[in-house]
Amino acid sequence: MEAKVSEILQRYEPEQSSIIAILQDIQEAYGYLPREILAQVAEELNIPLSRVLSLATFFRAFSLKPKGKHPIHVCMGTACHVRGAQLVLEKFERELGIKTGETSEDLSFSLDAVRCVGCCGLAPVVMAGEEVHGKVSQMKVPGIIKKYKK
Ligand code: FES
Repeated sequence: MEAKVSEILQRYEPEQSSIIAILQDIQEAYGYLPREILAQVAEELNIPLSRVLSLATFFRAFSLKPKGKHPIHVCMGTACHVRGAQLVLEKFERELGIKTGETSEDLSFSLDAVRCVGCCGLAPVVMAGEEVHGKVSQMKVPGIIKKYKK
């Protein structure tokens, strides 16, 4: 077992009720939930792998696929939606050549739609990693991508 996983497992009681906290720590450590790691956790906690997988897919915060080095989150909250966030999201899909929820093949970008990120005055809002881009139009999308594509 990888040292990182056993270190995470040691933080919690080896019981089924610890599973969500463990999954959160794994997601944070790896950026997603690698399947082979989930299998180890299932064995360690004596839970069927199918149960662990269903929890991992149930919660939106978890991802079973690796995320890109630059995660792009397009806000689809009401304020952003009425100001054209859908068009911005579709422009990102076309420019990156991936669908919402996917990661580019070279793992440089992933694209997700999210709920209100809390700065509606800047709508439509796009988060690139921790960086906030406000008043984003379709025309601004290539420039945002270019900024991170190095
Ligand atoms: S709705 Fe997009 S920031 Fe609030």
